[in-house]
Amino acid sequence: MYAIEVDNLTKIYGKGETAVTAIAEAALQVKPGELVAILGPSGSGKTTLLTSIGLINKPTHGTVVIDGTAVADEGWKSGIDLKRMRQEKLGFIFQAHNLIPFLTAQENVMIALEINNMTKSEAKSRATELLTSLNLGHRLGNYPSALSGGEAQRVAIARALANQTQGDPGR
Ligand SMILES: Nc1ncnc2c1ncn2[C@@H]1O[C@H](COP(=O)(O)OP(=O)(O)OP(=O)(O)O)[C@@H](O)[C@H]1O
Ligand SMILES: [Mg+2]
Repeated sequence: MYAIEVDNLTKIYGKGETAVTAIAEAALQVKPGELVAILGPSGSGKTTLLTSIGLINKPTHGTVVIDGTAVADEGWKSGIDLKRMRQEKLGFIFQAHNLIPFLTAQENVMIALEINNMTKSEAKSRATELLTSLNLGHRLGNYPSALSGGEAQRVAIARALANQTQGDPGR
């Protein structure tokens, strides 16, 4: 079984004369454990493809299957709990870090764990462990505005990894 299967995926932004076809009939299959890089010029649709697979950008047409569950088929499939799928199956690092500005680095990672019902003290130690493994042990209490661009992206990486337990050296 594939971890991710995409077929015939099309995303059109807008309508009529201003419509932009960002991706057209894309197909992609990713095996569990496989590392895939998507390359292409600016504006070629990479973010659109990844946000569609990440369940935060509704495709116009086509199918998306995540870990055997068909989540999109001509729009989101009905009866699929997208929020739960995002929480349990996906980690997403945004092009802009999208950290919550009024939470510290540590709290930005903790919140991803607490919404999955981890206790505050467990979340705190897991967040500390992850951030330390990304060389941010000295920046736990910094707000995003007091982090460098690369540090903020590493906090976003820690947040994306927070709920991942398989194959994660942090656990
Ligand atoms: N919300 C939107 N509304 C309208 N058009 C959009 C929207 N988002 C992206 N586009 C257009 O869709 C196309 C693909 O954009 P996308 O962001 O997926 O590109 P990208 O490959 O990630 O580019 P970059 O390398 O610059 O990040 C571009 O032409 C862009 O202008
Ligand atoms: Mg992009």
